[in-house]
Amino acid sequence: MAGEAVNPDNYRKAWSFFGTGVTVITTREADGKIHGMTANSVLSVSLDPPLALASIGHNRNSHPLIRANSRFGISILNSGQEHIARHFTMPPEQRVENGSFEYENVGDSPVIVGALSTMDCKVISEHVEGDHTLFVARVEHVKTTDGEPMLWYRGQFGHFVPGQEN
Ligand SMILES: Cc1cc2nc3c(=O)[nH]c(=O)nc-3n(C[C@H](O)[C@H](O)[C@H](O)COP(=O)(O)O)c2cc1C
Repeated sequence: MAGEAVNPDNYRKAWSFFGTGVTVITTREADGKIHGMTANSVLSVSLDPPLALASIGHNRNSHPLIRANSRFGISILNSGQEHIARHFTMPPEQRVENGSFEYENVGDSPVIVGALSTMDCKVISEHVEGDHTLFVARVEHVKTTDGEPMLWYRGQFGHFVPGQEN
């Protein structure tokens, strides 16, 4: 039989070949403070109505915060925002300021200033699957800016290189 029985290591490796963009998911805590995390398990579910999905691990601080707030922002980062992606992959107690960034509001959600695309998302359903919850949300406001994307591939941040046939 071809292939190996799946285990956490080869499962992670299999998905590492799937290059993605990089987002920061932001939400407000009860006291108004903004909490963020880096995420690439994010996708568009539907155009009409506009629905997006974010898959959030149960051990993330963001998980109870998004559940409580029922709203989150998506910021699709540009190629110059790697320091922001790195900042938000760390647990909050280990985060250091490694370069500056600011928030602004799109609709009712805080998002990262300068991101290529930002969205204000209202959670409409939650689906617990394995060790993650899939938050399906109606996208209520968007803002886009031209620029180059930041990408994630095989455990590394990188840049988009267009093909030769364009
Ligand atoms: C490129 C990249 C993408 C990630 N995507 C996700 C994701 O989609 N969902 C998730 O739960 N964690 C994801 N993580 C891990 C979180 O960013 C990380 O655990 C973070 O510290 C969570 O912050 P929090 O616990 O304060 O919410 C990703 C990490 C990296 C490096």
